[in-house]
Amino acid sequence: MRDVAVIGIGMTKFGELWEKSFRNLFVEAAKAAMTDAGVDKIDSMYIGCMSGGLFVGQEHIGSLMADYLGVAPIPATRVESACASGGVAFRQAYIEVASGMSDVVLAGGVEKMTDVDGGMATYALATAADADYEGFHGATFPGLYAMMASAHMAKYGTTSEMLASISVKNHANGNLNPFAQFPSKITLEGVLNSTMVADPLHILDCSPVTDGAAAVIVASLDVAKKLGAPIVRIIGSGQATDSIALHGRDDITTINAAKVASQKALQQAGLSINDIDFAEVHDCFSIAELIVLESIGVFEPGKAGAAILDGYTARDGKFPVNPSGGLKSKGHPVGATGVAQIVELTKQLRGTAENGRQLANAKRGLAQNMGGTGGSSTVHILEA
Ligand code: COA
Repeated sequence: MRDVAVIGIGMTKFGELWEKSFRNLFVEAAKAAMTDAGVDKIDSMYIGCMSGGLFVGQEHIGSLMADYLGVAPIPATRVESACASGGVAFRQAYIEVASGMSDVVLAGGVEKMTDVDGGMATYALATAADADYEGFHGATFPGLYAMMASAHMAKYGTTSEMLASISVKNHANGNLNPFAQFPSKITLEGVLNSTMVADPLHILDCSPVTDGAAAVIVASLDVAKKLGAPIVRIIGSGQATDSIALHGRDDITTINAAKVASQKALQQAGLSINDIDFAEVHDCFSIAELIVLESIGVFEPGKAGAAILDGYTARDGKFPVNPSGGLKSKGHPVGATGVAQIVELTKQLRGTAENGRQLANAKRGLAQNMGGTGGSSTVHILEA
């Protein structure tokens, strides 16, 4: 295995982007990443996309994007693992460069979700649940995460206020991110009084429906040094799966795929979670961030809620989480999210996060991306 680095990053603004097409979103992010890296050629690319077919009526995405980016005939592969599609695309790019097969590979992600109405968006997302045992019976992702939240509350005494504090923190961070969809600051009362979507989750506990794309350039350390680009090394990569239906799990107050993926990434890096300075985690719902932080060992089971309420994961806290604003504030174009997390890690590790969002001590960061309610997860560890 060769040493591998992230040498270029790019993303579009996230939001409801009527004026930009699916392909233009990807090309904008990919070009920005190539310009940032100082490369005009790539050996291959991977594109995370959950459901081009249902959201914009487009499949065969690898070839389409290679054509419009002007890089055909290089190999271009669309990667799908629900909301973890971007994280898996990044891992594929990393493996291809680490193996010696290629020197410079682009990992991107794209989703255009707002061209369909809310009912269709909810249906498209719900296809990432178990169709026979969950989707067929009307379960949606807000509903499934609401069940996980209720179980966590019953088992550990977690409160709605603790969950709301996660959204408040992520909006405070997103307020400083020029790429965020919902940069507004919000309050605990505001979250608790917002519309109930699936009890106990309010609308401000939920990530939004988003258009957007993100891309990064991954290269061998030798090539990175020759290019003279700022180098952020990939020192750990883990991926894991689990039953996609909640009823198939022993315990729905933990996410085993996140736990196993983080153990693998940490083991590869030769580190423990205590050696990590900050993280971007998959807060598709406030409860998801809380459970992930317990699953990857930042907190003991049942202990995250009180610590988060106390500021432990704030930008100036002991372990900052989602300095980008997370999925909640920055937005969640599902196929792009995992790559956008790598964009934020890279900014923080280069010391270039915008608008005072830069963390004081960012030497090693962890990105956790997740499909569905945790049927798949990736974890990557990057070092300045
Ligand atoms: N956070 C903050 N504000 C939001 C929001 C969110 N998640 N979702 C919508 N809004 C805002 C809209 O901008 C709109 O504001 P406006 O009236 O000032 O324009 C208002 O709330 C109503 O928006 P609307 O689009 O009608 O909401 P909706 O009821 O159709 O959708 C959710 C709200 C929560 C159901 C939708 O965002 C959702 O499904 N989120 C979860 C996505 C998901 O499951 N992702 C995959 C995770 S595994």
